[in-house]
Amino acid sequence: MNDERRTPYYIYNSKILQRTLCAINAARDERQHVHYAIKANANPLVLEHIRQAGLGVDCVSGGEVQRAIEVGFDPAKIVFAGIGKADWEIRLALKAGIGCFNVESMPELEVINELALEAGVVARVALRINPNVDAHTHAKITTGLNENKFGLAMEDMQPAIRRASELRGVEYVGLHFHIGSQITEFEPFRLLAERINELQDELEQAGITTTRTINVGGGLGIDYEHPDDCPVPDFESYFRTFREALQLRPHQEMHCELGRAVVAQCGCLISRVLYVKEGHQKKFVICDAGMTDLVRPAMYGSYHQCDNLTAQQDQRTTDTYDVVGPICESSDVFLKGYQMPTTRRGDLLAFRSAGAYGEIMASQYNCRSLPASYME
Ligand code: LLP
Repeated sequence: MNDERRTPYYIYNSKILQRTLCAINAARDERQHVHYAIKANANPLVLEHIRQAGLGVDCVSGGEVQRAIEVGFDPAKIVFAGIGKADWEIRLALKAGIGCFNVESMPELEVINELALEAGVVARVALRINPNVDAHTHAKITTGLNENKFGLAMEDMQPAIRRASELRGVEYVGLHFHIGSQITEFEPFRLLAERINELQDELEQAGITTTRTINVGGGLGIDYEHPDDCPVPDFESYFRTFREALQLRPHQEMHCELGRAVVAQCGCLISRVLYVKEGHQKKFVICDAGMTDLVRPAMYGSYHQCDNLTAQQDQRTTDTYDVVGPICESSDVFLKGYQMPTTRRGDLLAFRSAGAYGEIMASQYNCRSLPASYME
């Protein structure tokens, strides 16, 4: 660990990222395509590896589309989702010639059509359908249930496809789904595949045979509890689940939008201990990273393992601490009642599994600087 660097900062491990990308490419077959969900981490150092591995990108804003193009991703491999695409974002994506818009409402379909006609192009669109499948994950990151702001209801699927086929500025190419994030069982994915099979049967019965892509979204979870034992998610089971359960028609391809599973384990947030405060009932490790650098514990109650890197180099007893940040919010707590080596001012800490939704969600609250980042 480089002691000269100003903390807090993110550090990405290129070996773990490479291993993860190789595992993805080994586990998928040639009909299974991955669009990396850039919302998880848009750091150019990370994106370069992902681009070289041949993945496409899943974007949810004009800024993300721009970033993906800047770092050299093939626009044809970009998909663009989001319930609130602004006109400038749609125009930007049309100009770039992205692969597909994932359309989330009827009014959006009409606007994409108008803007495409205005630009003299035809926009490829997939319709995001809400499959009402329970992902069994955190309420704030469940998206596939009925009561949700995302996507079209299943009963609106056929009218939307019919409407798309009437519009000259859009071409219907497929269906899009996403049931949630940090899904650690394969059963919800199997249920999603079965729901898609039912929907495909319905479409065929109605004489609609123009569906070419089935995008199953993202959501594969990672092991936050055991980052050292399980640095690479089980992509083998993930892709096999869909190979076995999803009935792709001969002319169809499967797409997915993995974010967290690609980048979470390769990243750590490094922080220095400022003070160890001995309260009457508790001891607090106060570090220089806070919820502004890694918001997941404060926002979702998420667990990130904390390693004391300095203590790893010498023999120390252990103690129990609340590990907290310096931000003026009582939710600025990383860990409560956490057992770790006896910790001292100046020690370096690593918050593990922070490569996804870490750096990208950092803020400048309290007029703090955004964390720096390095790749090793
Ligand atoms: N596709 C769509 C349409 C999505 O909404 C998302 C994530 C993904 C793909 C990628 O999902 P993943 O493979 O990363 O699970 N900030 C939260 C996670 C929010 C996920 C939002 N949508 C967290 O830190 O846990």
